[in-house]
Amino acid sequence: MVFDEVARDGHEQIVYGYDEVSGLRTIIAIHSTALGPALGGTRFFPYESEADALTDVLRLSKGMTYKAAAAGLDLGGGKAVIIGDPRTDKSERLFRAYGRIVDSLRGRYITAEDVGTTTTDIDLIRRETKWALGISVAEGGAGDPSPVTARGLFNAARAVAEFIWGGSDLAGRRFAVQGVGKVGSAFVQLLVEARAEVIVSDAYEAAIKTAVDTYGVRSVPPDDIHTVDCDFYSPCALGAGLNERIIPELNCQAIVGSANNQLATDEDADRIAQRGIIYAPDFVVNAGGLINVYDEMLGYSKMRALHRVDGIFQATKTILEMSKSEAVNPNQAAVKVAENRIREIGDLRRFRRSGDDRN
Ligand SMILES: NC(=O)c1ccc[n+]([C@@H]2O[C@H](COP(=O)([O-])OP(=O)(O)OC[C@H]3O[C@@H](n4cnc5c(N)ncnc54)[C@H](O)[C@@H]3O)[C@@H](O)[C@H]2O)c1
Repeated sequence: MVFDEVARDGHEQIVYGYDEVSGLRTIIAIHSTALGPALGGTRFFPYESEADALTDVLRLSKGMTYKAAAAGLDLGGGKAVIIGDPRTDKSERLFRAYGRIVDSLRGRYITAEDVGTTTTDIDLIRRETKWALGISVAEGGAGDPSPVTARGLFNAARAVAEFIWGGSDLAGRRFAVQGVGKVGSAFVQLLVEARAEVIVSDAYEAAIKTAVDTYGVRSVPPDDIHTVDCDFYSPCALGAGLNERIIPELNCQAIVGSANNQLATDEDADRIAQRGIIYAPDFVVNAGGLINVYDEMLGYSKMRALHRVDGIFQATKTILEMSKSEAVNPNQAAVKVAENRIREIGDLRRFRRSGDDRN
């Protein structure tokens, strides 16, 4: 029952879109517009069932609400999924039909790229709606946000180092990076430049080879990366990797990674804390990409975007210090920061600014 699922996490609106000609089947989920338009990427994925697609889009859109709020942006949370195989089912017609559906929401939902979509796809969507961000540099946009996400991770790792060891220098620190795709490889580059020691892995053999050849790092098989004796474990692949089975096998001091929804369940944050490992919440440390596309809304300034992304250093430190002083785990601290902001700033709209102000 769709309404039961929607009610569970308090989503505002779900939109189903279909185009017979291109085979487009999409679900757009708006979790919250309390702080602003619901911004979140479009995931193109061959879901086994409609139910799987709905579950995923509901979970991801809620995560975007918290990410935007924790980053202090005037944005709500939303996400979209397109059911299909990104290698075979993409077409201009499909993305333009999708763009028209996004446009019908008149800015309540703003889209961007996600797993399975690229800036090229966003450029096509943009031909039908202005509510699409992360367009290519050639079209006047900010381009792929992944290197900026990596910069945010790097700042977060420095903040964690300062919190644990009293100094933010990462030289000589050992990192185990799971997944060297767009974000993971850019992160490895920053770490190597900072003279950290890096060990990588990936499910895709060619990605490992590229990282090893390009950055001169070591690698281990995919099943072993989380067991590497290191200072930082960095999940930069898929979600739910921190779970009941994996956490007892971790051999790190801290966790800082880009993957969304790293914790399989909320209890996993306690399991990590009980092992004495510092977990930097995913939705705080991986907000760089969101901050970058948000800046496009303001008329993109790279300098302003990077300046904001560097704020992830302080945001991470604040959450770790709050977790210590309030004796809660870092995930709970970050959720609290986000919920406080949604309550306080979201409430501002009761002050109407003018007769025609509908925001
Ligand atoms: N791209 C961004 O700006 C951004 C922003 C915020 C969050 N994220 C999240 O960060 C993660 C990485 O994003 P990306 O854009 O680099 O994606 P990507 O697809 O470019 O890279 C992911 C890599 O992980 C590898 N992988 C998949 N399963 C694995 C496993 N079990 N073990 C080891 N490696 C595995 C893949 O082969 C791939 O190389 C995703 O969870 C994404 O949602 C990305």
